[in-house]
Amino acid sequence: MAKKTTISVIKCDVGSLAGHHVVPKPILDIGEKRLKEAQKSGIINNYYVFNAGDDLELLMVHGRGEDNPEIHKLAWDTFSEATKKATSLKLYAAGMDLLKTAFSGTVRGMGPGAAEMEIEERQSDPIVVFAADKASGGAFNYPLFRIFADPSNTAGLVIDPAMAGGFKFEVLDVKENKKVVVKCPEEMYELIALIGSPDRYTVSRVWRAKDNLICASSSTTRLSLIAGKYVGKDDPACIVRAQHGLPAVGEILAPFMHSYFVEGWMRGSHWGPLMPVGLKNSRCTAFDGPPRMVGLGFQVANGEIAHGDDGTPLISDLFDDPAFDLARRESVDQAVTLRRMGEFEPARLSTEVMEYTTIDKVLEKLKDRFKPA
Ligand code: F6R
Ligand code: MG
Repeated sequence: MAKKTTISVIKCDVGSLAGHHVVPKPILDIGEKRLKEAQKSGIINNYYVFNAGDDLELLMVHGRGEDNPEIHKLAWDTFSEATKKATSLKLYAAGMDLLKTAFSGTVRGMGPGAAEMEIEERQSDPIVVFAADKASGGAFNYPLFRIFADPSNTAGLVIDPAMAGGFKFEVLDVKENKKVVVKCPEEMYELIALIGSPDRYTVSRVWRAKDNLICASSSTTRLSLIAGKYVGKDDPACIVRAQHGLPAVGEILAPFMHSYFVEGWMRGSHWGPLMPVGLKNSRCTAFDGPPRMVGLGFQVANGEIAHGDDGTPLISDLFDDPAFDLARRESVDQAVTLRRMGEFEPARLSTEVMEYTTIDKVLEKLKDRFKPA
C-alpha cells in the first residue's frame, strides 16, 4: 500500500494577551519547543506553529493517520504546558478551551479543535490551511461552497476535464451530531439549503466525486455543545488541497477577495464581516474583531512540509497581499455599519444562536409584569 501522509491542524485558546485578542510570544515559544522535541523523537516529521488571533495553532505533518492518540496527546500536552505559562503570566482566560482535565486519547470533545487530512501524496501536493478567530464552525461553509461547487468562482469546474463529475460534501448537523454526504452539481440546491444555515450545518469534508480523492477537511466542533454553555466560538481551521485536477490555489483564495459574514465576533454573539489577514495582523481588536482569517500555503513532500536546507518549513502567508485589501476595506466598512446598529438584529445574532445571553434573566425579572395584550 502507498505510504500516507497526515496533515493535522490542532488548535486551542490557552489564554491571550490583553483580553481575547492575540497569542503572545512566550506561548508560541512553548508550541515551538514542544513540537521541535516531538520532531526530534520522531512523533511528527515537521511542523509550523502560528496563531489565529487568540488561538494557538499547531500544524503538524506526520505518518500516523487521523485521530492518532499520540498526535492528539502531543497537542494536549502542548496546550497544557502553554496554559501553565499563560496562568503564570496571568494572561487572560488561561486554559479557556481545555474543557476537561484528563486526556483520554483524543482532543475531540475536550475543547481544542482539530482539522486533519490523511493523503496519498501526489507528484506534487500544494496545501492551503485556513484558521479563523472570532468565528463559528460554519465559517468555511460559504468559501468551501464557492471553491468546490460554484462555477462562477472556480473556472476549473467548467474548463478542467479532470474536475468533471464535481465534488461531494460531507455536512455535519452539529445539533443532532449526524452527517450526510451531498453531491454537487446534482444536489447543489440541497447543499445550499443545509449549509446556508451555518450555525447548524457545517461542511466537514470534501472529496472529488470521480475518485473520492480527499480535498478538504475542517474542524467542526461546537464548544458550547460540549460544555453545555457558552465557552467562546469555535474559531475553526480548515485544510484544502489544491491544483492538478483540484481547484487552483488562486481559485481557493478567490472567495476571500470580498468579505462575507460569519457568526462570532464580540462575545460570539454577532454577525461579523470576515477579514482575511496576513500573520502580522492576526489579532482581533475592534469590538474583538472583526473576525479574522489567516491562510498558509505550503507543499507536502515525502511526509513533511517542504523545507529549506536548514529545516525551516517553506510557508507562504497567503493573505499578506494587496489582492485582499478590498476585502479588508469591505470588512471595516461593514463592521462600522453593523456597529451603528448596536444590539439590534441583524447586528446581533438571534437569541437561539447567540448562546451568551441575558434574555432568560430579563424574562424572569419581568415575568410578573407581562400582561395579556
Ligand atoms: C468571543 C471572545 C470575546 C469575549 C469578550 C468577553 O469569542 O472571545 O469577544 O467573549 O471579550 O470576554 P469575557 O467574558 O472573558 O470578559
Ligand atoms: Mg479565539
